[in-house]
Amino acid sequence: MGVTGGIAAYKSVEIASRLKKLGANVKVIMTQSATEFVTPKTFQEITKNPVAVEMFANITDFDENHIALANFADVVLIAPATANFLAKVAHGIADDLLTTTILATPAQMIFAPAMNTVMWENVATQDNLKILLRRDIKIIEPATGNLACGTIGKGRLPEPEKICAEVVKFFNATQSDDEDFQSVVTVSSSFGEILTVREETEKLHGKKILVTAGGTVEPIDPVRYIGNRSSGRMGYEIAEAARLQGADVILISAKSELPAPKNVKFIKIETAEEMRTAVLNEFDTVDAVIMSAAVSDYRVKNVAAQKIKKSAETLTLELVKNPDILKELGQLKKSQVLIGFAAETENLLEYAQKKLAEKNLEMIVANNVTEEGAGFAVATNIATLIYRNGKIENFPKMTKAELAEKIIARVAEFF
Ligand SMILES: Cc1cc2nc3c(=O)[nH]c(=O)nc-3n(C[C@H](O)[C@H](O)[C@H](O)COP(=O)(O)O)c2cc1C
Repeated sequence: MGVTGGIAAYKSVEIASRLKKLGANVKVIMTQSATEFVTPKTFQEITKNPVAVEMFANITDFDENHIALANFADVVLIAPATANFLAKVAHGIADDLLTTTILATPAQMIFAPAMNTVMWENVATQDNLKILLRRDIKIIEPATGNLACGTIGKGRLPEPEKICAEVVKFFNATQSDDEDFQSVVTVSSSFGEILTVREETEKLHGKKILVTAGGTVEPIDPVRYIGNRSSGRMGYEIAEAARLQGADVILISAKSELPAPKNVKFIKIETAEEMRTAVLNEFDTVDAVIMSAAVSDYRVKNVAAQKIKKSAETLTLELVKNPDILKELGQLKKSQVLIGFAAETENLLEYAQKKLAEKNLEMIVANNVTEEGAGFAVATNIATLIYRNGKIENFPKMTKAELAEKIIARVAEFF
């Protein structure tokens, strides 16, 4: 457990105490600033372990060196996490024992930020949080309420109970090797409470979501293909946003340079026909499908077995229509929520509304790819959400990660 220099540091005494009672072996590292709020002695008494602050203190054995604690933990919880600490970790700074340990640990990290509302909303803090979330660090959102600085707003450290529930949740999800801790957690009387916390905080807990992403590739010959400009980013961000809301995610990806996201079922395909097979294999078991992949409408009729040599002045390729996967899903669907994408260059609303109706979708995400800051291969998007009941929601330019969060929040409302 790491404790940084925020006014809420006193609450981390109760967190350490609760974790200890749950059977955890808790070792605390404090930043120098944290010792201004609580003494190391307090944590030492509670955890019955020495408390570390200084990087260079008491180094007698270089095998037990400055990163020894990094390998000790199954999970690293930082509560409270200051704005300063978030910034340092986001940028890989390791200038004290806590941040050095963080950089060196293979353990799952859970950060519980707490700070004044303006500090929380500051673009620098928000950008840092985005970086941390991408690294699979679990962030426990601060609560809203009275703050120590006399204002009311978002920034409070959530109650110790809730923070401990997140730690327990991690162990329950990963089936820890530590049988003792596992069994203590499972029989703990707070288990019911913990499940409730999980259901309240994760809007897609228990749901299975299928996301498609990237651009399909249709071969011409063994070295050439017909493709499109999709980077896959929108779909990968949607998969990540769904996972962060507790969904079981299947990501079926056509061509994309992005690394496979962690903790999702990842299926890589190339052509539209392969995409169709992969999607249909999963369709019966999922609660929602978000088709953000750019699927080629046509494929080459006769793919050449050998590389086509340069000879005549013109070359004609005959194309045949690919299966319309979304339409097929619209006909097959039982209770699944179906979301489509319309990337257009003209008559955006008209085409998108037509597609929504024809393909029997619950919602369509429409964007005009010719607008600056929208569409393929850029980090931002400008989207309009159109619903089956005719409702239209326009979003301003935002990052694809932000748009993914919004789309997932809307998907959750269908359940
Ligand atoms: C009384 C007082 C309360 C503070 N509370 C917070 C806080 O709640 N959150 C925060 O991010 N910073 C807070 N700060 C500022 C941090 O202590 C400061 O940024 C410090 O450099 C953090 O160091 P650390 O991240 O190494 O612990 C507070 C400072 C003071 C003097």
